[in-house]
Amino acid sequence: MDEYQPTLLEQQLKTYIQTNGPISTRAYIEACLYDPEHGYYRAGNPIGAQGDFITAPEISQMFGEMISIWCVLTWQTMGHPVPLQIVELGPGRGTLMADMLRSLTKLHPQFEMISIHMVERSINLRASQQAMLGDFPCPKHWHDHLSQVPPGPTIIIANEFLDCLPIRQFVKQSQAWHERVVTLDENNQLCFAVGPQLPPGLIIPKRFETAKTGSIFEYCPDLEGLISSLNQRASQHPMVALFIDYGFEGPALGETFQALQKHKPVSPFVNPGNVDLTAHIDFTALAAHCVANGLKAHGPRDQGAFLSQLGIGARAQTLVQNANETQAKKLASDVIRLVAPEHMGALFKTMCVTSNFIQPPPPFDQQVEAPHDQT
Ligand SMILES: C[S@@+](CC[C@H](N)C(=O)[O-])C[C@H]1O[C@@H](n2cnc3c(N)ncnc32)[C@H](O)[C@@H]1O
Repeated sequence: MDEYQPTLLEQQLKTYIQTNGPISTRAYIEACLYDPEHGYYRAGNPIGAQGDFITAPEISQMFGEMISIWCVLTWQTMGHPVPLQIVELGPGRGTLMADMLRSLTKLHPQFEMISIHMVERSINLRASQQAMLGDFPCPKHWHDHLSQVPPGPTIIIANEFLDCLPIRQFVKQSQAWHERVVTLDENNQLCFAVGPQLPPGLIIPKRFETAKTGSIFEYCPDLEGLISSLNQRASQHPMVALFIDYGFEGPALGETFQALQKHKPVSPFVNPGNVDLTAHIDFTALAAHCVANGLKAHGPRDQGAFLSQLGIGARAQTLVQNANETQAKKLASDVIRLVAPEHMGALFKTMCVTSNFIQPPPPFDQQVEAPHDQT
């Protein structure tokens, strides 16, 4: 076996910690994912069979086709605004948007009038998206942040985007909650440690104040900036956003922070900058932030139920009519992978966030009327 060679980013992080002391989990994740030279989302092409993970649009075109149907239904609920812009947050290789553009104009001719806005921080993935979308005639724009997308009626799609946002972690000690930090052990290796005490009453839900020693609580501060950006947009023009991600209905204790390399879980301290780091989304916290900011939040609903209600089963049956045996088997297994609760169907959830003057689009018929109890 080859001897482990620390990455350049690992060496830089160690030097920084030796000089300045431990860093928060959030600062560690931020550096690993977004360091301008060595960050995971600056340099690599992580998605697909050759990469570290596979996403729903990369499994089947049917995923993008169902999102297109959802966009048309949503546009109708919004009152058919024209011009309409479709924004994608974290568009990966551009597969989802390409599948959507292929089917949107077939579903409704007005969708020839849309403009596309891709919010992407990775230079390499931007290049893949530009190549993937080159043949589509609609105006296409790339941005670093949602706030750079011009105002106007907007549908936003975000598949596996929220799970990239860096989290803070807190660890319960006998008397109080403390920040979890990254430091160096006696062998000069990166490791977790217990950091400064968190002032009481901040961040940790009241019900967890007396949690048992060693409990972990995770919190994603970047959600606040994202939601205030959504709110600014949604208060001026009709806006509907669809978030799809792996997550849970919180608040909950426990560690969901994970590192993935070549489709296998690894230590978050191995190969910093070359490894995908994610955390599950607390959809209850997301909904509460939205409602507190004057938005409406609907869901979460399991991805399986969402796709089934939009007709993925019927779409698969149509495709099977022109498929050979191998293709038919793949179509059947793709639907199972996307929909079945033991695969992505229950682990992945969908949440719809709208301007407060818009009715929930199908299939979201349940509405969060008041902030969820986060205490
Ligand atoms: C897990 S991939 C998902 C890709 C795609 N949505 C899909 O389903 O295949 C995360 C995507 O979000 C992008 N990304 C991560 N953090 C981002 C940020 N803070 N702002 C914009 N894009 C980001 C990554 O470069 C990548 O395109």
